[in-house]
Amino acid sequence: MKTGKVDILLGLQWGDEGKGKIVDVLTPRYDVVARFQGGPNAGHTLEFESQKYVLRSIPSGIFQGGKINIIGNGVVLAPDLFMNEAKELERSGHPLKTRLHISKKAHLIMPTHRLLDKANEMAKGKNLVGTTGKGIGPTYTDKTSRNGLRVGDILNDFDEKYRLHKERHLRMLAALGWTDFTGLDEMEKTWMEGIEYMKKFMFVDSEHEINHILRDGKTLLCEGAQGTMLDVDFGSYPFVTSSNTIAAGACVGLGIGPSKIGNVYGIMKAYCTRVGSGPFPTELFDETGARIRDLGHEYGAVTGRERRCGWMDLVQLRYSVMVNGVTELIMMKSDVLDGFDTIKACVGYVLPNGEKTEELPFDLNGVKPIYKEFKGWKIDMTKFKSEEQFPTEFKEYMKFLEDFLETRIGIVSIGPDREQTIVR
Ligand code: GDP
Ligand code: IMO
Ligand code: MG
Repeated sequence: MKTGKVDILLGLQWGDEGKGKIVDVLTPRYDVVARFQGGPNAGHTLEFESQKYVLRSIPSGIFQGGKINIIGNGVVLAPDLFMNEAKELERSGHPLKTRLHISKKAHLIMPTHRLLDKANEMAKGKNLVGTTGKGIGPTYTDKTSRNGLRVGDILNDFDEKYRLHKERHLRMLAALGWTDFTGLDEMEKTWMEGIEYMKKFMFVDSEHEINHILRDGKTLLCEGAQGTMLDVDFGSYPFVTSSNTIAAGACVGLGIGPSKIGNVYGIMKAYCTRVGSGPFPTELFDETGARIRDLGHEYGAVTGRERRCGWMDLVQLRYSVMVNGVTELIMMKSDVLDGFDTIKACVGYVLPNGEKTEELPFDLNGVKPIYKEFKGWKIDMTKFKSEEQFPTEFKEYMKFLEDFLETRIGIVSIGPDREQTIVR
């Protein structure tokens, strides 16, 4: 039987690795691009022709030559935010209606899910997750507890379904002691406008559509959101998101058999960042961390929050390569380290009991990184066109990473623009 191929691109750290930029760069190689999990907690930035776009629910393949883009069943979608995002793209000259398909099985984020997100965070007190406040956790909770509202539900008896779901949420909010309903009416009004707006798009049985595409010998790129350390099973639980961000999530979130998966592209920064709470062994609290934040413009694309910055963590990355079955690495933001005298990468941990390990432990709290130091390359790489131009120090750094992670680095990114990408 003839079958097309499915590749997956996903984040190996705590999100914001640069997935949007690389999906856009790789899209010309594929027929279709699909998102398989997450929702508007994502913020994927793309830059080309002096324009900058931030995508939240719409796949990052939308700008390249009229390719079909699919929002899969594993995604959670907020109609109001989707409407704002889609209208802005249409205004900037990127028509979507014929080439963006939405799975009927994707779950809807209701305004009351956002209130529940806030109420849950409040109830956690100082142990709060630091969520994006977009209602992600409560929507996935409703999905797994078999209480969710799906895109396909829009097509019949929707108002009654909505009313029943809202009533249940209000009872849950009351139990959590939540009393602040300011702005809810307004939010609901825009949300319902979003529902009407969504009806202009094609609602599809995306598992059928995707498998037909593959049967026809075409190719699909699956775009991950968040990162492996935010995966609900394998991340730094409970400081994670509520979906499976790893490669297996693409099978579940799109209805693709594992035997169809080809390459798994794992994307990482040349250093590491994290937004929200939770352990981060290589976090830098000193001026080096501030310098990375400053040079890398490390502020959240969705919330504007400061990203916590630190050195690359190879123990953590080796774990991510393992659970995803990564076949090729992509290294981003190498240019941010251009001016540093020394660069560090964590190659082991000292556990709180004094033992050393190179394997990611169950609990990351209290582990101390063991670093290897590299000499900086001290050259502006942002205008390089080929890998031959890379300085020796940078080549040595890459070689060490490839050996430690037992995986080839296939692409190096040296700036935010589409053009600042070196394919090796
Ligand atoms: P995503 O969520 O994985 O798509 O990543 P984000 O868009 O949240 O964050 C990545 C940020 O880094 C964005 O502001 C990008 O424009 C920027 N960026 C991507 N690649 C590079 C790079 O190689 N160098 C620099 N300096 N910036 C980059
Ligand atoms: P992209 O796709 C970075 C983090 C939040 C919080 C935790 C849970 O742009 O890489 P949630 O709202 O999902 O319940 O929040 O996960 N988080 C992200 N951090 N990049 C993201 O997406 C993120 N999406 C969620 O900061 O710590
Ligand atoms: Mg992001």
